Amino acid sequence: MPDIPNGLDRYAHICGWGTAVPNNILTNAELSKMVDTTDEWIMNRTGIKQRYIANDKETTASLGVKAAKSALDTANISPNDLDLIIVATSTPEHHFPSTASLIQDKLGASKAGAFDMGAACTGFVYALTVASQIIQSGSMNTVLIIGSETLSKIVNWEDRSTCVLFGDGAGAFVLQGSKVPGGVLTSVLRSDGSGGDLLKVPAGGSAMPACYDSLRDNLHTITMNGREVFRFATRVMADACREVVSEAGMTLDDIDFIVPHQANVRIIEAAARNLDLPLDMFIMNIDKYGNTSAASIPLALCEAVSDNRIKPYNNLIFVAFGGGLTWGATLVTWDVTKTTSQNQVWHKLRRQALYRVARIRSAIRRGTRTIEGALWGEEEVADK
Ligand code: COA
Repeated sequence: MPDIPNGLDRYAHICGWGTAVPNNILTNAELSKMVDTTDEWIMNRTGIKQRYIANDKETTASLGVKAAKSALDTANISPNDLDLIIVATSTPEHHFPSTASLIQDKLGASKAGAFDMGAACTGFVYALTVASQIIQSGSMNTVLIIGSETLSKIVNWEDRSTCVLFGDGAGAFVLQGSKVPGGVLTSVLRSDGSGGDLLKVPAGGSAMPACYDSLRDNLHTITMNGREVFRFATRVMADACREVVSEAGMTLDDIDFIVPHQANVRIIEAAARNLDLPLDMFIMNIDKYGNTSAASIPLALCEAVSDNRIKPYNNLIFVAFGGGLTWGATLVTWDVTKTTSQNQVWHKLRRQALYRVARIRSAIRRGTRTIEGALWGEEEVADK
């Protein structure tokens, strides 16, 4: 990738992509033994057949790290090249530290800043927009964005109207600056907080800190008005697609594929009807993953790329909606700058060595901090 002078006709290209899912699959048949539902109801109303569910050791950060390593492999770059890591998630490891910082440490991305982004299921579109604009502004050159979720940990497994919908997984993109036209062309981001109550996790934040009552009443899990969210989603998906092509000075005829947030096949079908586009323009894999929130768009995109459906120079719209309420769309000309490096094996070995070094460096830093604290901590406190 050439060295680009700051601020001069810079484009943000997606040059790496990767995904990760937990080991365990939960089928509709298995779910029907847990709550009063059937495979037929779930398939007819949502298009979901199964979803991946994290075990106790699989977390938003661990899935995010796997997806990120895979994206760095595709991009064939070192974690040291990263300037920034953004993690879009509704299921962070903690309120703080950010999941992005934990992933930065695991990757050994020693020169990168890191922060989490909360825009629910629209999070990946928001992260893609922010990352591309930082690159286009010239202030940074290489940004890793990750959508990672372990929604199974905040689902009420006794509520059949929500627990059948969600799943776990992660997807990541590496974006880099280039003079070559293409990559992320334009975006629209929207929000309507008046609909915040339609889809939310009521407790665990400052409005209702976690307490005995909130645990007893399951208020730390997802609550949703499904019908209202459905109506909102079908309207904004089509609107956002129209707006983003118009901002790019294009029409829907210029678009090859739409990669929608995977919440419900019927929502995607309604958007296709509304836009008067054939359904096969919409990339869908919700049957295998369920709704993985901020991870659903990269999970769908990566599958379509590995199936050779999406080709270089295809124009794509990524479009999503979710809690907030939020929605948005991004128009991308796909994979214009990718070149096959002859040194891929060597670079991969180097990355694996760097991940081991990162583990050791992190352990040494923790150890040093503990020793420093023991040696000087009390002295400094006493001085004050
Ligand atoms: N199994 C069987 N029956 C179920 C059920 C389940 N898992 N969940 C709900 N039902 C029942 C309801 O109790 C209701 O029964 P009733 O008629 O006796 O009262 C009936 O099915 C219809 O419920 P309704 O909520 O009207 O169904 P729906 O067609 O709207 O489908 C959703 C429900 C949740 C699938 C749909 O509203 C939806 O997908 N909404 C959007 C959700 C979403 O995308 N959220 C994430 C946004 S990022």
